[in-house]
Amino acid sequence: MSSTITAKSITRAKRLSGSVRMPGDKSISHRYAMLAAIAQGTSKIHSFAESADCQSTLDCLKKLGVRIERQGSDVTIEGVGFDGLKASSEALDAGNSGSTIRMLSGILSGQPFRTVIGGDASLSRRPMKRIIAPLTRMGARIQSSEGGLPPLTIEGGNLVPIRYELPVASAQVKTAVLFAGLYAKGVTEVVEPHPTRDHSEIALRQFGVEIGHEGQAISVRGRSELRAQELTVPGDISSVAFFLVAGLLVPGSDLTFHDIGLNPTRIAILDFLRSISGDISVLSSESRSGELVGSVRVQAGTLGGGEIPVEMVPGLIDELPVLAVLGTQTEDGLTFRGAQELRVKESDRIAAVADNLRRMGTDVEEFPDGMRIAGKQRLHGAEISSYGDHRIAMAFSIAGLVADGVTTIDDSDCVRISFPSFFETLARTAE
Ligand code: S3P
Repeated sequence: MSSTITAKSITRAKRLSGSVRMPGDKSISHRYAMLAAIAQGTSKIHSFAESADCQSTLDCLKKLGVRIERQGSDVTIEGVGFDGLKASSEALDAGNSGSTIRMLSGILSGQPFRTVIGGDASLSRRPMKRIIAPLTRMGARIQSSEGGLPPLTIEGGNLVPIRYELPVASAQVKTAVLFAGLYAKGVTEVVEPHPTRDHSEIALRQFGVEIGHEGQAISVRGRSELRAQELTVPGDISSVAFFLVAGLLVPGSDLTFHDIGLNPTRIAILDFLRSISGDISVLSSESRSGELVGSVRVQAGTLGGGEIPVEMVPGLIDELPVLAVLGTQTEDGLTFRGAQELRVKESDRIAAVADNLRRMGTDVEEFPDGMRIAGKQRLHGAEISSYGDHRIAMAFSIAGLVADGVTTIDDSDCVRISFPSFFETLARTAE
């Protein structure tokens, strides 16, 4: 019998096949939208992410006086120029989106007015001291709820440049400081402990801003004018990750993805899967507006396993939930450490993954900063708790494709945060 896939229940799949289109990259869409808003002139963005998070960014920008039109995945943004944002009479709502609140706070810190920005229950539990510290050093006055939690009240203006050594590898924090640096007189510099995704640097250059990069230090010169652009967002490799894992695990599968972002700071997932014998090939790649884009093919096969090298963990942070699911089907199991950041994502992803793997009958050990998952395990269909977290819902939908019986996902609608068409795409590719 073929797999039955609805937004709520999943059964074992015979195989997955075909050519799959993925939604536009969430990380890149946020950045293009924010920079287009403060650029001079009208930008057009194609293949803008379907993600609810990216819509939150557009809605916040509209409240700051930016005219935005959206027709499906085509977004037109009338840039208001460097000093053109207007104070919002209402609080900005970042929804579930850590990227929106953290990165936009950088721009808000440069504005000579006060803004309140908050979000949903999950966002209201996420740490903001990591942006409050550097933005305050630059001269912004930021109030938060107790413990450095949202909502934030930001009074900006008159920023000074800083050199900031990031205590945690975070592209969102790096971006917040670089975006604030646009509004400071002089050169602002951010030093990363490990390289993180560099979409902000690429996008800033694309919009005409000079960016320095020396070793682990990235710098931006303030008061550089941004010019409007026409850009196409590549497909989201973090969404592809779910299908890569499904393609590797379900026997006989053969899937191809076109127009996928292959930025070197995002492809740790490809490198890691290949290192455990995953049959993945990059069929083509080219540079588009500074971002590498290409086609990828995956075919099912036997997988090794082992320990994810700790230096690879920051580059795999969004993919770890689905890699944990994959670990159960490997020869040697899978272990990862150094991933304490997973505990402060949309949910505590270490606890959520461990709970759901156990529900499916799996042997798993939880560490404060990671987990050990035994290999060659038989998964049983189970009632999965998504914890309202899109990546948990999608990771365990993939688990359902290789489990006995029926897997049900509660609040499966949360996939709209990054991939609203996830279940339709899965149903189309799976037999
Ligand atoms: C993102 C950076 C990462 C990632 C998030 C998106 C970005 O977060 O987990 O999904 O677009 O910069 P951190 O900056 O907290 O590592």
